[in-house]
Amino acid sequence: MDEKNIENNQSQVLIPPYFTFVWAEDQNGLIGKEGKLPWSLPNEMKYFVEVTTGGVVVMGRKTYESIPNPPLKNRVNIVLTRDKDYEAEGAIICHTKEDIMEAVKDIKKPIHIIGGVSLFEMFMDEVNLLYRTIVYEEFEGDTYMPKIDYKHFRVFQSKVGETDAENIYPHHFYVYERKKLAQPF
Ligand SMILES: NC(=O)c1ccc[n+]([C@@H]2O[C@H](COP(=O)([O-])OP(=O)(O)OC[C@H]3O[C@@H](n4cnc5c(N)ncnc54)[C@H](OP(=O)(O)O)[C@@H]3O)[C@@H](O)[C@H]2O)c1
Repeated sequence: MDEKNIENNQSQVLIPPYFTFVWAEDQNGLIGKEGKLPWSLPNEMKYFVEVTTGGVVVMGRKTYESIPNPPLKNRVNIVLTRDKDYEAEGAIICHTKEDIMEAVKDIKKPIHIIGGVSLFEMFMDEVNLLYRTIVYEEFEGDTYMPKIDYKHFRVFQSKVGETDAENIYPHHFYVYERKKLAQPF
């Protein structure tokens, strides 16, 4: 991967709704620890808000419950659970992938899959954009990003994150597009 900053040179126009993945992983692909993020990195939280605001965020029940004051504001929140009685204020509850497809198909906004593991696995064939942040450190934890076949994607944006007293871990923001776009709808 080119380590320089690559400015926006996306080659394809995506018309919403389209699927993205948005996540941060450490250098071993770790994404979670005991229901939370393994690190504190306010820059990454800020980037997450920038990327997802105005769109739809789709998440598993555990990820939803890891959000400090849910739902995520200024976004349509969708939560996947098998629990038919589950309620989450301000969120649409879905029980299957088909429910999610039905809920998003007429929303003319990007559909951001924000985790966890089974949500990323579920939408692996539909995703067209990847917002991947790599935190260059080794943390301890219990939840890992599922394998993505990066040969089907190309990086079109890459930015080195700024480190400071509150953001002590080196990190890098990458955005990929699928070379041959999936047509989920
Ligand atoms: N670093 C990052 O970018 C990032 C992103 C997201 C999450 N995380 C971290 O990852 C961890 C949470 O992720 P996770 O993978 O453990 O959990 P998760 O995907 O957020 O939630 C799992 C739950 O989703 C529901 N679910 C999953 N598959 C389903 C299906 N096929 N049908 C219906 N419901 C389904 C189930 O809910 P019920 O049990 O209610 O049935 C399941 O227990 C936390 O540590 C979080 O902080 C990190």
